Amino acid sequence: MKNFDIALIPGDGIGPEVVTEGVKVLKAIEKMDTNLSFSFTEFPWGCEHYLKTGKMMDDDGIDKLRHFDAIYLGAVGYPGVPDHISLWELLLRIRKEFDQYVNLRPVILLNQSLTPLKSKTEEDIDFLVIRENSEGEYAGAGDWLFKGQPEEVVLQTGVFSRKGTERIIRYAYEEARKSNRTLTSISKGNALNYSMVFWDEVFEEVGKEYPDVETYSYLVDAASLYLVSDPERFEVVVTSNLFGDIITDLGAGITGGLGLATGANVNPEKQYPSMFEPVHGSAPDIAGKGIANPIAAIWSVSQMLDFFGEERWGKAVLTTIQDMVKETEMLTPDLGGNAATGDVGDSFIEKLKITA
Ligand code: NAI
Ligand code: MG
Repeated sequence: MKNFDIALIPGDGIGPEVVTEGVKVLKAIEKMDTNLSFSFTEFPWGCEHYLKTGKMMDDDGIDKLRHFDAIYLGAVGYPGVPDHISLWELLLRIRKEFDQYVNLRPVILLNQSLTPLKSKTEEDIDFLVIRENSEGEYAGAGDWLFKGQPEEVVLQTGVFSRKGTERIIRYAYEEARKSNRTLTSISKGNALNYSMVFWDEVFEEVGKEYPDVETYSYLVDAASLYLVSDPERFEVVVTSNLFGDIITDLGAGITGGLGLATGANVNPEKQYPSMFEPVHGSAPDIAGKGIANPIAAIWSVSQMLDFFGEERWGKAVLTTIQDMVKETEMLTPDLGGNAATGDVGDSFIEKLKITA
């Protein structure tokens, strides 16, 4: 019997609504597989907690999370608390303290009807973005000088260490080799004359160890064009923190929207827990209405199961998602249906029982 200890941080807005559905799925799997069990511990952290206590998470929050096998997070951020506080004091803090330097964001078109790109099919849009998740443009390095004065200057520094750059690029080469796919690096060496020239050099250097992996290197602006005009060029993509953030929202845009986009924050060495979350935020515009799409959060469960080495279940969850998006009556309004969040979760579980 294998047991996995999962920390739940449902967070704000629709976060708790979608995490509830993901947990339902894990509990259903536990019932179907007598060799697997999950235990859950919930942490009430987020913006409401901040308004009550002045803190996004407990002071010893990181220590409280340290022994878990995984963290399952909904969304963080809500009107009333500045976004840079909610993001930095919870989400980014966990990513950094637990050295979750790999952000895995699959961009997969599950059904042709979901893409706004005419004539693109499921075969054309199927890639994995590996985003650097610990430094780069989101290192939080910089300065704010002469605040409010005419000579005011702000500096936001990109930090690219050799260790940080090499390890993400190496991870991507390994992934491309393992899955027998091409590897594309997205950078911007023509304008960012330190950071991205360095990135490109490391990409080439590490590549010498992987002569079997076919590589491409695009500037981020050209890559944005190709993502729309020929997404079939991309198989495994490696890129920096900022560029990865942006192009994966573009990826969500061509595959059905944020209600379907997931991301894993991984510490590959398993020295610390990894964190699984939908890409979307707390969606204040629809929070409390019971219409949030839970599929992105359920896809996170699939990534978590893969990470646990339970790939059979990870695959079963993904296949069931694929079946679900073929029918509109059991989908939330963002995908053209009129089902409620909880009904989508329940119907998902019925389908999963048949798939598994
Ligand atoms: P958002 O992702 O919350 O919403 C953008 C749009 O997509 C909204 O119209 C929303 O209704 C829709 N949407 C998002 N998820 C959906 C779902 N599951 N089902 C149906 N529709 C969905 O982004 P926004 O509005 O820019 O940010 C809202 C708050 O969330 C902010 O405080 C922001 O800082 C935070 N945020 C947190 C993230 C995280 O926790 N990882 C990521 C992005 C934003
Ligand atoms: Mg983002």
